[in-house]
Amino acid sequence: MEVIAKTSEVKNVLTEHRSKGESIGFVPTMGALHRGHISLVEKAVSDNNIVVVSIFVNPTQFNDTTDLKNYPRTPDRDMKILEKSGVHYIYMPSEQEIYPDPDTRVFDFGKLDKVMEGEHRPGHFNGVAQVVSKLFDIVEPHRAYFGQKDFQQLAIIRQLVKLLNLKIEIVPCPIVRENDGLAMSSRNLLLEPSIRQSAPLIFKTLSDARNKGVELSVKELISWVVTTINKDNNLTVEYFSLADSITLQPILNWNDSESIIGCIAVRAGKIRLIDNAYFK
Ligand code: PAJ
Repeated sequence: MEVIAKTSEVKNVLTEHRSKGESIGFVPTMGALHRGHISLVEKAVSDNNIVVVSIFVNPTQFNDTTDLKNYPRTPDRDMKILEKSGVHYIYMPSEQEIYPDPDTRVFDFGKLDKVMEGEHRPGHFNGVAQVVSKLFDIVEPHRAYFGQKDFQQLAIIRQLVKLLNLKIEIVPCPIVRENDGLAMSSRNLLLEPSIRQSAPLIFKTLSDARNKGVELSVKELISWVVTTINKDNNLTVEYFSLADSITLQPILNWNDSESIIGCIAVRAGKIRLIDNAYFK
């Protein structure tokens, strides 16, 4: 495994692999790796000849400077884990390397980024699109791997690939959870112990809500989820949306969509957690 900081160098080595007809799989990350990330890496290793993982905490997607400052960074540990997972290259650029000049590009995602995370974290998905489009341009992968944990991000990336006419296969990967159901996230490291104990209630409530199914109306179920989670003093629901899984637009009735996703964001002390589950 090689760790590369320079864009020109990563481009050169990958051009060579591509010219030999080898397939390139790419897993973009912000580091502080956990089993969720590793599941993407393992899939990439089994699908491709060469696997590249990027580690870059992208400032343009943070709409909160404290969140950026506190974001966990564990590069030495990350490198060891990736070495064991069979990764060929880690691309770990500096900020200057990715943004030699400020990125002023504005992407038009239509209604996709006006809801849920897009609504609550202004500019977040534009920042994600800025960095991912640059990374795609540098790595030129055949396949790129994204987790369903960030359901809306996956939809945005698919749209980005369409907008830019890229020939990259986007491979969605299922959510990896802790034993108690909490979706794995780098930010879980920042939860205070008492709040960490409350956090599994998020997925438990989503699962119970799924079992309630159409017993309740959409409005009643949303209200039940919000009330159930908010009863825990450590948790406050920012939003819970039942939406069409493709357009991400909220549904009003169960028969408004063939495929319904329930997406939630919860404030757990100073940390914001997101999760989702299919309802239909
Ligand atoms: P990061 O949060 O590090 O996540 C990197 C990838 O791992 C994303 O595709 C994310 O959906 C996936 N992932 C995270 N937790 C997961 C879990 N519990 N189960 C399955 N997959 C999981 O997402 C980003 O970084 C950034 O926005 C990035 C795409 C790298 C752009 O900066």
